[in-house]
Amino acid sequence: MFIDYGTKLATIDGFWKLFESTGWNEEYRLSKQDLATVVRNSWFQVAAFDGDRLVAYGRIVTDGLLHAMVYDLITDRDYRGRGIGSEVLSRLVKECKRARIRDIQLFCARGQRAFYEKRGFKARNEEGPGMDYVGVKSRPLA
Ligand SMILES: CC(C)(COP(=O)(O)OP(=O)(O)OC[C@H]1O[C@@H](n2cnc3c(N)ncnc32)[C@H](O)[C@@H]1OP(=O)(O)O)[C@@H](O)C(=O)NCCC(=O)NCCS
Repeated sequence: MFIDYGTKLATIDGFWKLFESTGWNEEYRLSKQDLATVVRNSWFQVAAFDGDRLVAYGRIVTDGLLHAMVYDLITDRDYRGRGIGSEVLSRLVKECKRARIRDIQLFCARGQRAFYEKRGFKARNEEGPGMDYVGVKSRPLA
């Protein structure tokens, strides 16, 4: 099987399918147009194609020098376990290194820790974890 790696999406449709397949959008509730905005505002992306079919994807959001985040690394279920996700990740990291970005980070999805550890990432110390904003509970009136 020949997998063609590039840095462009012809349409949003393939990524939309991959993104929807993860279940992540149950929380985010993005429309296809929203996802196109996400792609447009990303700094770099890698798209892996089998013919016309997008089979894996990953993208980088960054300030261009200090911090970069890897987002949405996804391989189509039918194509997993063949090194495609590793290749996409490696190309994302390579581009960050090329730009001399100092700090490359990601949020590891459940069950993927070993995958990232084998590929050069290390979980942050528990004393300094990544955090999500979940809102502030209103205080009871005094
Ligand atoms: C994480 C993910 C992108 C990896 O993609 P991939 O193309 O399967 O990655 P690779 O083939 O390069 O490596 C997968 C690993 O699983 C092993 N594997 C073997 N068979 C497999 C299978 N049927 N399915 C998945 N992985 C398999 C591979 O050998 C490899 O093992 P290693 O880490 O010991 O080398 C993919 O599992 C995925 O899309 N998951 C759902 C979305 C997700 O959670 N993304 C991460 C967000 S943080």
